[in-house]
Amino acid sequence: LFGGAVAGVGAAAAIGVDVLTRASASPAAVPTEVPDADPAAETVPFFGEHQAGIDTVPQAHTTFVALDLRPEVDRAGMIRLMRILTDDAARLTGGKAALADSEPELAVLPSRLTVTFGFGPRVAALAPEKPSPAWLGPLPAFSVDRLDPAYGDGDLLLQVGADDPLTLAHALRMLLKDARSFTTLRWQQPGFRRARGSEKVGTTMRNLFGQIDGTVNPAPGTRDFEDLVWIADRSSWARGGTGFVLRRIEMDLDKWDRLDREGREQSVGRKLDNGAPLTGSREHDEPDFEAKTVVGFPVIAEFSHIRRARLADTSRRIFRRGYNFDAPPTAEGISHSGLLFASYQADVEHQFVPIQRSLDELDLLNEWQIPVGSAVFVIPPGCAADGYIGETLLG
Ligand code: HEM
Repeated sequence: LFGGAVAGVGAAAAIGVDVLTRASASPAAVPTEVPDADPAAETVPFFGEHQAGIDTVPQAHTTFVALDLRPEVDRAGMIRLMRILTDDAARLTGGKAALADSEPELAVLPSRLTVTFGFGPRVAALAPEKPSPAWLGPLPAFSVDRLDPAYGDGDLLLQVGADDPLTLAHALRMLLKDARSFTTLRWQQPGFRRARGSEKVGTTMRNLFGQIDGTVNPAPGTRDFEDLVWIADRSSWARGGTGFVLRRIEMDLDKWDRLDREGREQSVGRKLDNGAPLTGSREHDEPDFEAKTVVGFPVIAEFSHIRRARLADTSRRIFRRGYNFDAPPTAEGISHSGLLFASYQADVEHQFVPIQRSLDELDLLNEWQIPVGSAVFVIPPGCAADGYIGETLLG
């Protein structure tokens, strides 16, 4: 895409203008790990056994969108829609303009763009002869919930991620334009992490409480991940797909401000500086839930988030890939921020629900977090270059 010299400048630019300024002031400030290729040109394969955007290293930006099918859309209409959207997604993620792209210049920097589709109960019901996972539908009610229907449910999920927000905006607009005659918009929730290049790849993200969030997570590419995330049932149309839960959780930063550092660390059971468990010194040290203080209290408190979120049955684990959100504050407030808690698991009922029940019963973090949105989708498997997403259900 670029000549060598230009690619070098591109890489530095992706890391930040600051790098260039500092580099000219002091050669020692030049980063040691400048990526070889321009990160803006990087692509994530669209076709395959699984959809991209789940085991993909999280991009800096992701927008989750739920669409509702127009009443007249039947199974044949849904097939038409998914063929069009699959074609759009395949082109755009490859750095090519969509058919009839109105701004083709915006498609040339894919920046690891991924488009992931999910189906709600109404789409699944278009093929009644093919049973859908029993858990597809709204989650059970939890006492912490203060759900706003403006952020709930939906028929068709689009999860669009990229390291570049302009690339993402363009891709989303193309998809929405093509979906418009079949669907209406139900909700749209943009999320972000740190900019690409500001941290080493593989650094666990921080949420807006300042916590390192995502340390204990099954690692893509491992057997553990395969078993926990992908639906394995050979008789299911969803085989090779996964279950998706999106919870919009407001984090009361103004109230959090009144909690001291020790309280903040106690509420999770981990240190703020490097994410180590309160019984360890490095981020990935195994927490020692038996350890006691000199006066006999558990070092990692009974009410701590990590104790409550870890269930004894290790088949009840989930893959978290969340994003921060930072909506405009209310007139009286300073913050209106939180976490787009996104988790992927083969069986929502068996894996996500018991963890959320445990947190609902007891979790000190509940003092500062309020779930306001909740949605569940089946993410169908991926497809081959001559297929379309959803063919195992609709075809
Ligand atoms: C762990 C924050 C909501 C499940 C953690 C950790 C933090 C954190 C800081 C420790 C580091 C890590 O392993 O990632 C938050 C915040 C939330 C939230 C700020 C809401 C705003 C949830 C929800 C669930 C959940 C809704 C699931 C229902 C987990 C799990 C772990 C975890 C499974 C790993 C526990 C282990 O060590 O085995 N969370 N979390 N979290 N969280 Fe959350």
